[in-house]
Amino acid sequence: MLQTKDQQWLRDVIDRLTVKMDWVSEKSRHKIPYTTVDGTHDDRAAHNPSGDVADGINWWTNGFWGGMMWLMHHETGREEYKTIAAISEEMLDRCFEEFYGLHHDVGFMWLPTSVANYRVTKNPASRRRALHAANLLAGRFNLAGGFIRAWNDLEEGDTRGWAIIDCMLNLPLLYWASEETGDARFKQIAMKHADTAMDAFVRPDGSVHHIVEFDPEYGGVVRTHGGQGYEEGSSWTRGQAWGLYGYMMSFIHTRKDEYLQTAKRISHYFVANMAEHGVIPVDFRQPAEPRLEDDTAAVIAACGLIEIAKVVGEYEQRLYLDAAIKLLRVVDERCDWSHASDAILQRGSASYHTKAHHHPIIYGDYYFMEAVFKLKGNDLYLW
Ligand code: GLY
Repeated sequence: MLQTKDQQWLRDVIDRLTVKMDWVSEKSRHKIPYTTVDGTHDDRAAHNPSGDVADGINWWTNGFWGGMMWLMHHETGREEYKTIAAISEEMLDRCFEEFYGLHHDVGFMWLPTSVANYRVTKNPASRRRALHAANLLAGRFNLAGGFIRAWNDLEEGDTRGWAIIDCMLNLPLLYWASEETGDARFKQIAMKHADTAMDAFVRPDGSVHHIVEFDPEYGGVVRTHGGQGYEEGSSWTRGQAWGLYGYMMSFIHTRKDEYLQTAKRISHYFVANMAEHGVIPVDFRQPAEPRLEDDTAAVIAACGLIEIAKVVGEYEQRLYLDAAIKLLRVVDERCDWSHASDAILQRGSASYHTKAHHHPIIYGDYYFMEAVFKLKGNDLYLW
């Protein structure tokens, strides 16, 4: 599947990953990192930077560190990674007790931790946690609108009717719950959300809205919001990547062809908008200056492109694989493989309008690892 020059590059990257994660995992073993401060991982389990209930231990990215440990365990066979993954999984139990901080991102939190653990070890406590999370996610389904509610009310107001494209990556928790229990309700909810989002989020050109606001009483789209992108009607690149990979995940779990066609449509838009240099901006429709970039969007999109390449014919496969490899190679050149930073990727951006840009974000490292293991053919598929 890979050309000779790419095979050598891939071996080198995996060597560098293995060396770096060996010491980083030890150094951060009792933390749940999100970003770095002066090169050292922060700890969302111990610290709540905003004071909001959805931050701190309930922060939506808190599953990725555990997921990185499971990927590394699968790659290296080192038992220590399993132990470190279990530490963060147990820390997340506090979220169930607090409950008020939880949101639709329970998929991001418990798929790479508890579902991964259960798939590998059959640990009954992990199964219980994952089913608990799946029930919380299913409980956010709005019957009239056919969508899963994203967030709880924000400072700026009522979000009862809000759904976001990112939720496509939470749906695999519901697919897993149906596969695990034999109860079709979870899968029905996931597919209904995916169907609603195909119409409401995906534009004719293959770009996607970040936030769609539905009428929470009667259903139907009320308006769309620019969310973490530049503005309403723009094209937040991580949102494009969530849509691309998310529809591919729904296809993998259901084999519904419309989901594959949607993933392909979003991917064609993504690839057509890639600049020659291959660096991905925060928003494909942002102004030329400042040149805000987001390597996390690049690596998430790469994961989706590689999955598409696995199910299409030989001729098409090259297009998707070449795009994925280009994204990953460009990101690799900007990684920090030294001891100066606990993080690998250094140029993530949480959203267009935040003050800080071009800093490490944990899911950048997670999806970079997932993508290179996919290319090697050794991905522990956690979704
Ligand atoms: N799911 C929120 C984000 O991608 O920033």
